[in-house]
Amino acid sequence: MSNQAPLIIAIDGPAASGKSTVAKRIAAELEAVFVNSGAMYRAFTWWVLENEVDPSDPGAVVALLGKTQLESGESDRVGTVSINGKLMSRNELSEERVNSNVSAVASVPEVRERLVSEQREYAESNSVVMEGRDIGSVVFPDTPYKFYIDASPEVREQRRRAEGIEDSILARDKQDSSRKASPLVIPDDAIVVDSSHMGVDEVVGAVLMAIREKQS
Ligand code: DC
Repeated sequence: MSNQAPLIIAIDGPAASGKSTVAKRIAAELEAVFVNSGAMYRAFTWWVLENEVDPSDPGAVVALLGKTQLESGESDRVGTVSINGKLMSRNELSEERVNSNVSAVASVPEVRERLVSEQREYAESNSVVMEGRDIGSVVFPDTPYKFYIDASPEVREQRRRAEGIEDSILARDKQDSSRKASPLVIPDDAIVVDSSHMGVDEVVGAVLMAIREKQS
């Protein structure tokens, strides 16, 4: 796979639909870089909170963005995010205060513009599997490889609880789907996989098969 033209695989879906686990596995299979774009929105949200900026004040959020050095990178084919030189940890990115404020920060168009340009850079020299909310609709609208991984609200809430994470996913979905700037949508040309009653292996198998079919 690595000798072929770079591939861009876009995987979107609501919170806790299992898209991250699936995207990671697909990236490993394809020897591509795995990028969790939500981590970038989470990183900047963490920084907003650390600076005691009100996440619901877009003007203040944009002012902080202007003073912030936000860098994306990669380690062992997994995307990383640094803020002013500080590499963000998984624990910081999944803090409860980040969960409850990330949708507000992610609804600010200037924040999206900045992060989308970082996201596109990953695909300049690598095959990439990127997951998020607007990857197929906005970040890489021209890729033929678009997937939307869904699951019922009950299953998604249960998955989050099993992770021991406090996260109001339904409220977050509502905000992410109703915002003006790049809301969560199912791209017209995406393949939708409802993972409610499927195991991870099954979902990964279905996505890989669809990619191979499109390639042939
Ligand atoms: O994937 P996640 O649940 O960690 O994402 C956290 C939040 O980031 C999500 O609620 C909305 C925002 N997000 C976004 O607006 N666009 C993306 N491409 C990815 C995430």
